[in-house]
Amino acid sequence: MSSYIIKGGNKLTGTVKISGSKNAALPIIAACILNKGITTLYNVPNIQDTQMMYEIIKILGGKVQKKKNKIIIDTSTIEKYEIPDILMHKMRSSVIIVGAIIGKYKTATFTYPGGCDIGARPIDLHLKAFEKLGITITQNYGTITCNAEKITGSKIDLDFPSVGATENAILASVLAEGKTIITNAAREPEIIDLQNFLNKMGAKIKGAGTDEIEIEGTKKLKEISYNIMPDRIETGTFLCLAAITGGKIELEKTNPNHLTPVISKLEEAGNKIEIKKETIKIEAPKKLKAIDIKTMPYPGFPTDMQSIMASTFSIAKGTTIIVENIFENRYKYVQELNKMGAKITVEGKSAIIRGTRKLYGANVKATDLRGGAALVLAAMAAKGTTIIENIEYILRGYEELDEKIRQLGGNIEITKLI
Ligand code: EPZ
Repeated sequence: MSSYIIKGGNKLTGTVKISGSKNAALPIIAACILNKGITTLYNVPNIQDTQMMYEIIKILGGKVQKKKNKIIIDTSTIEKYEIPDILMHKMRSSVIIVGAIIGKYKTATFTYPGGCDIGARPIDLHLKAFEKLGITITQNYGTITCNAEKITGSKIDLDFPSVGATENAILASVLAEGKTIITNAAREPEIIDLQNFLNKMGAKIKGAGTDEIEIEGTKKLKEISYNIMPDRIETGTFLCLAAITGGKIELEKTNPNHLTPVISKLEEAGNKIEIKKETIKIEAPKKLKAIDIKTMPYPGFPTDMQSIMASTFSIAKGTTIIVENIFENRYKYVQELNKMGAKITVEGKSAIIRGTRKLYGANVKATDLRGGAALVLAAMAAKGTTIIENIEYILRGYEELDEKIRQLGGNIEITKLI
């Protein structure tokens, strides 16, 4: 396992280029399976989660080539339809590839992805959507097998606007016979990117970004190339790195429209923010003012920014209240932050963050991807040195995070010795 060694206290200043979106790239890599042939993807983040998806494609018999700034995926040689248990457990979001395999081959075998560090994360909504499309699901001892003579378009009413269930329902219905309508669909920008990718391939989808999505089944898709949208959570992470260190950063190659709630909260806290088409400039105040946050499905405040904001506002003036409405166990990072002098108490879904003057370096452990990112922010602002263990969690979702922080004047190194 690797660790970060961070010496805090530097104000981060300068320019950073935002990478492609992890949460857009994963379903789009899966969607390549729907067309037997070559797909070329640009702006795919080079992170462990995309690497994991390439491994699954290769285990199914496909080929993946990484060139300088593009990924070439050849699915013409896929001949297996079972996702290995180890990969299902290593990466929960691999469940997204199931919809594509079933959609193309009408059969798939996989195991329950199981809970992870932020909650039980069941897949009941995914399975219910598959059944509505005429897919038979059999389960025994955690292994799930899906089969269908043919996939028939249907109306799918989601109990909750689940991002993954929305994406899997789309993937399973692109090549179906007839029309599928998904109601109470998730509205995240990553779903719009998936729709744009699939329509470029020849699919007939409309409504992504709203709560009702319509998919007209089609027979033939074609070989394309596609440019993945920027990562909105990495964008929010760098905005908060400026805010917590009292710095001034210009973020390039991003899309400000994807994180309006985060930008308005940071402005409310006293940050000066200037947005253009693909850039955001942020200048932090001497002292952040406390705010209140409730995480909600998009376009509400994103749950993936919850821990990062908790960390940022641990040194604000006043008390910040955060309510986490999406995942039931997304505060594991709090005990680690408190080792650094944060004053955070968790009451059920709420975290009460009493702003403190200073954080102090400590030895802490990443508990999950965004909880780990929260520790990086705290360490950048803390007095002294922090060692963050288990950074593999962080490497799953952030491309060259330490390199980008060093370029902004941060003192961060990776070591495998601790
Ligand atoms: C996606 O996860 C993202 N991951 C998550 O980002 C993000 O936090 C989440 O959406 C919410 O925005 C990817 O896109 C790869 P959900 P997903 O299905 O699809 C419950 C990150 O840090 N639920 O919208 O798994 C579920 O338990 C990651 O980049 C069911 O009950 O999220 C949760 O409480 C973390 N049954 C809520 O819905 C189901 O069948 C939202 O989950 C599915 C979900």
